[in-house]
Amino acid sequence: MTTYPVDMTVKPQVKAFFDSATNTISYVVKDPESRACAVVDSVMDIDYAAGRISYESADAIIAHIQENDLKLEWLIETHVHADHLSGAPYIQEKLGGKIGIGEKIKVVQDTFGKVFNEGTEFQRDGSQFDQLFTDGDTYTIGGMTAFAMHTPGHTPACMVHVIGDAAFVGDTLFMPDGGSARADFPGGDAGELYDSIQKVLALPDAMRLFMCHDYGPNGREIQWETTVGDEKEHNIHVGGGRSREDFIKFRTERDAQLSMPKLIIPSLQVNMRAGDVPKDKDGNPMLKVPINKL
Ligand SMILES: [Fe+2]
Repeated sequence: MTTYPVDMTVKPQVKAFFDSATNTISYVVKDPESRACAVVDSVMDIDYAAGRISYESADAIIAHIQENDLKLEWLIETHVHADHLSGAPYIQEKLGGKIGIGEKIKVVQDTFGKVFNEGTEFQRDGSQFDQLFTDGDTYTIGGMTAFAMHTPGHTPACMVHVIGDAAFVGDTLFMPDGGSARADFPGGDAGELYDSIQKVLALPDAMRLFMCHDYGPNGREIQWETTVGDEKEHNIHVGGGRSREDFIKFRTERDAQLSMPKLIIPSLQVNMRAGDVPKDKDGNPMLKVPINKL
């Protein structure tokens, strides 16, 4: 098992941005000792019915970075999201920084390259991204050392990014009363998800955990921050030492009842290209709808 370079003495400043259209939380993570920052899981807005893209969410992040005179070093994607489009290339164009994702993006590109019947011009080698992370890879944000933990199960390329005492869990976990993410997308696996969650729960109890999504279950207010200790004790899907076997059974039964996310078709096509909208043969931005493939 990989030993990860955990350093709880580093305490990044974390600013959250909630997108109410997709219940996604994006983050600006700042090094307390310098101007350096990273953006985690940004959003590009889409009115899918109208085929219209806009940038209010990404502009709010850009404004925050500019107003605070920060230097953007990284745009991290915890995985290929199926419920919102990434705003990473738009932010990168304005502020720089490198777009990074898990190396298993190649598997995701291969799977959905087939679903969307992409031609040979669609590279399935992750080359649309600036950096591909493998388990345990480290990178720096100013003076902070961050690392990526491979946490497959929801999707093959999922990674949790740990920056000092803050971990960005993507869709591995939800808030304790939200449980865990589905594991039934192509390449997903409930057993793998359980194992990945155990990796997160093996981090120190005081580690801050930042969610990618929250849906305010049972009418509570939207929340996005908890701790490893809290999840271990209270998570409704995996807390209290639930067994792997039990989790797989529960997760599989539940996933069978879930409908597809509203934005899965545009999200996959855009996010597997690092946030770029595909183009038709004449160079016009254009999306496809594969019939009976998902
Ligand atoms: Fe997801």
